[in-house]
Amino acid sequence: MKLIIEGVSKSFGVRGKELTALEDINLSIAEEEFVAIVGPSGCGKSTLLNLTAGLLSPSCGSIYFKDASPGRMPAFGIVFQETGLFPWRSVYENIAFGLEAAGTPKAALKDEIMHYIELVGLSGFEQSFPHQLSGGMRQRVGIARALVISPDVLLMDEPFSALDAQTRTIMQEELVALWEKTRLSTLYVTHNIQEAVLLADRVVLLSRRPGRVSNIIEIKIPRLERERAEHTGAIDEYVRTIWEHISKDARAALLEVEENG
Ligand SMILES: Nc1ncnc2c1ncn2[C@@H]1O[C@H](COP(=O)(O)OP(=O)(O)O)[C@@H](O)[C@H]1O
Ligand SMILES: [Mg+2]
Repeated sequence: MKLIIEGVSKSFGVRGKELTALEDINLSIAEEEFVAIVGPSGCGKSTLLNLTAGLLSPSCGSIYFKDASPGRMPAFGIVFQETGLFPWRSVYENIAFGLEAAGTPKAALKDEIMHYIELVGLSGFEQSFPHQLSGGMRQRVGIARALVISPDVLLMDEPFSALDAQTRTIMQEELVALWEKTRLSTLYVTHNIQEAVLLADRVVLLSRRPGRVSNIIEIKIPRLERERAEHTGAIDEYVRTIWEHISKDARAALLEVEENG
């Protein structure tokens, strides 16, 4: 099953003016493909992810699945930057929420929930509450909650950007290992080029105002080998190439933020 984003544009009405956040986006995510979207702040990354999740509707164009099994709506698992965990629910109860929302009685699925708790490395923390966890652990709960519904596509919007650098590196490595187990078609939004190059099969660069696909770069190093010393040079080369493509836009974004105070 392939996810297709075809000719998608999205405009917002802001103070009586029309703001085109995304223009004519064409992109596909194949089965078992990990696609990263990279671009400077405000280029429309989150908008694209929310459109894909069906949380927003496009102003024009369409997003659909090719070769989906008939009679079944494909499901999305979503992980946001802030996990949005319920503070009054335990780790177990937070993960169970994904199933409750999907209408499954959670008691029937204890094994399933425990499986995902183990998969994200939270065994022993089932009864802990979010405030008792580190940022990295909270994000693991967010990932388990997205996976427990057995989604067809995983959508992640800067899931590690609020974490400190070391935790972030650990979480990236864990995500690679986890992804190799699930091999879910994934759309991963980040402004961090290094992260995109470590994780993705293809990196899609978005330009800004309006957000357009300016380039798509295939990362041709096997994912599980990207941390190896022998690939450091090639990884750096990808990062440098991507930065060359987007640095002008990133500088413009920075100035704009400063002007807006
Ligand atoms: N609900 C909204 N209403 C009006 N403008 C929006 C809305 N959501 C996003 N935008 C605008 O669309 C552009 C892209 O935003 P966003 O997708 O959040 O960018 P990114 O995630 O890349 O930082 C920005 O200029 C933002 O201000
Ligand atoms: Mg965003």
